[in-house]
Amino acid sequence: MVRVQSKTQKAGEISTKLLAHYDEHARELPWRVPPHESSDQPANPYHVWLSEIMLQQTTVAAVIPYFAKFTARWPTVEALADAEEADVMAAWAGLGYYARARNLIKCAQAVSEELDGVFPQDEGRLIGLPGIGPYTAAAISAIAFGKRAVVVDANIERVIARLFEIDTPLPAGKTEIRAETDAITPDQRAGDFAQAMMDLGASICSVKEPDCALCPVSKYCRAYNSGKPQAYPVKAAKKAKPARKGVSYWIEKDGNVWLIKRQAKGMLGGMRALPDDGWRAGANGHAGSPVDANWRMLDRAVSHVFTHFSLELSVAVTDSVVDENALPPGEWWPVKSLDNAGLPTLFSKAARIVLAEERRR
Ligand code: ADE
Repeated sequence: MVRVQSKTQKAGEISTKLLAHYDEHARELPWRVPPHESSDQPANPYHVWLSEIMLQQTTVAAVIPYFAKFTARWPTVEALADAEEADVMAAWAGLGYYARARNLIKCAQAVSEELDGVFPQDEGRLIGLPGIGPYTAAAISAIAFGKRAVVVDANIERVIARLFEIDTPLPAGKTEIRAETDAITPDQRAGDFAQAMMDLGASICSVKEPDCALCPVSKYCRAYNSGKPQAYPVKAAKKAKPARKGVSYWIEKDGNVWLIKRQAKGMLGGMRALPDDGWRAGANGHAGSPVDANWRMLDRAVSHVFTHFSLELSVAVTDSVVDENALPPGEWWPVKSLDNAGLPTLFSKAARIVLAEERRR
């Protein structure tokens, strides 16, 4: 008799194999409860939430030191809710996507003040909180509370696109990918299951060189069986990013540099920064210098890539006397302790160019 495996049976086998592999090989991560302990030691929802916000568009390696710094300084959601916004923004500096930090503070305040410090368990209630979209709500609900939720991040997208050989190009293919993820997500241990797939995607099922010989589910993987796992996920051709130009201004006096605070809304909003000529995603900077001075343009410029555009940021320097009343609102900051100013990476790159140049002169 020919046995035809039902779709449900196959789904059950895939999730069982992935969970068994996770039990053996789960990465040890500071926000994670290891799988053999997860049944008796509940995850800390504050840690899970904080890590998931930090991990949006950021690698695990980059997040680990920030997670350690934040949890040491603000051990609970209440502590974070009571923090000075400027301290949180400065602690976030270098991690990028600063809207996340602004929403982090708002979310901590909402949970602390409106929900008695208790994170909701259901996706539907999590989604309404600042900075929590469908992915993050599903991840928190599953990982922190063990609720069944369908979690799909970029690593999981790749694993699923290969397992089911989904050839609709992304982003249109996301609907199918989600449906297949839903079909193999188990009722129990949905959080471990999501993290099992994330780990598989981050290690064995890598973008360029998947190591299918080590994969616990290669037997079920259509892309592996047809010999071309690297071809998935199929992606729609990317539009070229616009290339913008701008100028940042380094105004120095008595060992101090003039720093401004960027407007709360918009790119790098609320962060300390060097004054600039108003560059943005949609246009080159054209506002000119913030104050009349004897400017010297440095030879080197900063190259920086944002999600939607790249920026070549030139650096103009002055140490001539400027009319302080004409400066945009800001503060003198000691150049020696610029590391403590919480500058976004773009501006710390500019500062590095200035300081390297000064050393050469
Ligand atoms: N990326 C996003 N969430 C993650 C998690 N919980 N573990 C590993 N990588 C992740």
